[in-house]
Amino acid sequence: MQKIVVFTGAGVSAESGLKTFRDSDGLWEQYNISEVATPEAWQKNKTLVLEFYNARRRQVLEASPNKAHIAIAELQKKFDVQVITQNIDDLHERAGSQKVLHLHGEILKSRSEKFETLIYRQTEDIKPGDMCEKGFQLRPHIVWFGEMVPEMDAAAFHVMKADILIVVGTSLEVYPAAGLVTYAPAHSEKYIVDPNAGRLNYIRNLNVISKKAGEGVPALVKKLLN
Ligand code: OAD
Repeated sequence: MQKIVVFTGAGVSAESGLKTFRDSDGLWEQYNISEVATPEAWQKNKTLVLEFYNARRRQVLEASPNKAHIAIAELQKKFDVQVITQNIDDLHERAGSQKVLHLHGEILKSRSEKFETLIYRQTEDIKPGDMCEKGFQLRPHIVWFGEMVPEMDAAAFHVMKADILIVVGTSLEVYPAAGLVTYAPAHSEKYIVDPNAGRLNYIRNLNVISKKAGEGVPALVKKLLN
């Protein structure tokens, strides 16, 4: 069975109503990364950081998978599919994808700020004073800027074994995640679906599909399943 790795960013969830980060109306236009998405921000103002991620969680719970998430799950009919996502939402899982690796964490989980392995399912807001079982404050289970990306080695291993790599809706600006595409074997078929993908000319033999995910991904999946 051929192995497909689908590497996604915020663009795959844009048509589900979740904002991207760097588009003109994106989240990083509204918020300052250093005030909400770093360990320093957490030390300085936990309430502000919690409010930012509580809002993200509420939006994710209201959103539904779109045609792109659903088409990606359909690839499992014929291929061994590994999704690697930078997204913190659970829309790939809800669309039916079985193997999903979250590089930047999951908003529907919280963890102890002291003990990294104490991880909980989290569908309600996290409030100051909400504690882990050992009595330490809960934080979102998110990888912040300046923190290690624990799943990076596993992700690179999958990309190295890919027969087909499909990249969807990511600006490829945030490392180490963005470097993953360079691990794809020379013989692999490579696609990117993103309305602004033209700038990625440093990746050899990349098939560029300059469309929104909801249109470009189902068309590509149809072609690959034929
Ligand atoms: P960005 O906001 O940087 O990029 C979003 C990409 O999606 C851009 O290339 C857009 O052109 C594209 N896009 C927008 N609408 C689309 C649509 N309907 N269909 C397809 N593509 C569309 O988001 P990411 O690349 O995911 O990390 O950002 C990477 C990381 O930066 C995030 O995981 C997050 C952020 O800071 C952390 O918070 C650690």
